[in-house]
Amino acid sequence: MSWLRSILLPVEGTQYAGKVDDLYMFILFVSGFFFLLVVGLLAFFLLRYRRRGPGEVTPYITHNFKLEVVWTVVPLLLVTVIFFWGFHGYLEATVPPADALEIQVTAKRWLWQFEYPNGTRTINEMHVPVGKPVKLVMSSEDMIHSFYVPSFRLKTDVLPNRYTELWFTPTREGLHALFCAEYCGRGHSDMSGKVWVDSEAKYQDWLENGDQSAQSMPLKELGALLYESRGCATCHSLDGTRGQGPSLKNIFGNRQRMASGKVVLVDENYLRTSMLQPQAEILESFEGIMPTFQGVLREREILALIEFIKAQK
Ligand code: CUA
Repeated sequence: MSWLRSILLPVEGTQYAGKVDDLYMFILFVSGFFFLLVVGLLAFFLLRYRRRGPGEVTPYITHNFKLEVVWTVVPLLLVTVIFFWGFHGYLEATVPPADALEIQVTAKRWLWQFEYPNGTRTINEMHVPVGKPVKLVMSSEDMIHSFYVPSFRLKTDVLPNRYTELWFTPTREGLHALFCAEYCGRGHSDMSGKVWVDSEAKYQDWLENGDQSAQSMPLKELGALLYESRGCATCHSLDGTRGQGPSLKNIFGNRQRMASGKVVLVDENYLRTSMLQPQAEILESFEGIMPTFQGVLREREILALIEFIKAQK
């Protein structure tokens, strides 16, 4: 039946994805079986006991003890099996092993931020080593979001003022899609990310050096990539439309009025400060809601973004 699973369900990316699918398929088959049984009997009885002539009267039936016991006990047994099966899986999914790699996840409108034990931070992109248990400690800075990786069979709400946890052992190397599964406003559908499951060596290399391909890319190209992958695009448009933050179109080289009343020239230094200390000088009529990218952006990445912003005419 694996062909049916591969049509119905996404790939299995964690150690318990297969178990979730076993139960899912069991429920699907039980539901399918009883659907066919009920509809089949209904159709059969319609034909078999149809009125054949005038004056034919249906006998008066009050109840049938045997039949009622059967249709009570059989479903009871089935839902009991489903309950304990599900509860067993739930327990496994809730209690992380003590040696799990811990990653802090912060959700905010409308991006995901990940922080690793060595201080590395990423936006909308998570890297995990294959075959090692990973524990996520998640919280939100504003409203309820939901961390959802379909191929991991994982979904847990991410709440403000509270930590929720998730753990898993990734079993399949490659790219997996991350979504926000709780409607959180205008940018909800943009609140997606990438989960990379790497080999142990590749993961360590990424942790120390960052993305290989990015290191050799021209600055402006790298900037365009970072504009998307670091979540800038959710708030800063390129076409002049006003978002949560100012549009980047024609911003470079212009004098802009700040909330403090000062008029500031938007140059390289202003852009750099705005990335690392976003609250320092906020443009007039905007709110200071941008997170700091200190520790998230490497030096070369800051340069790349500045080059990219310069090119937005
Ligand atoms: Cu965050 Cu929807």
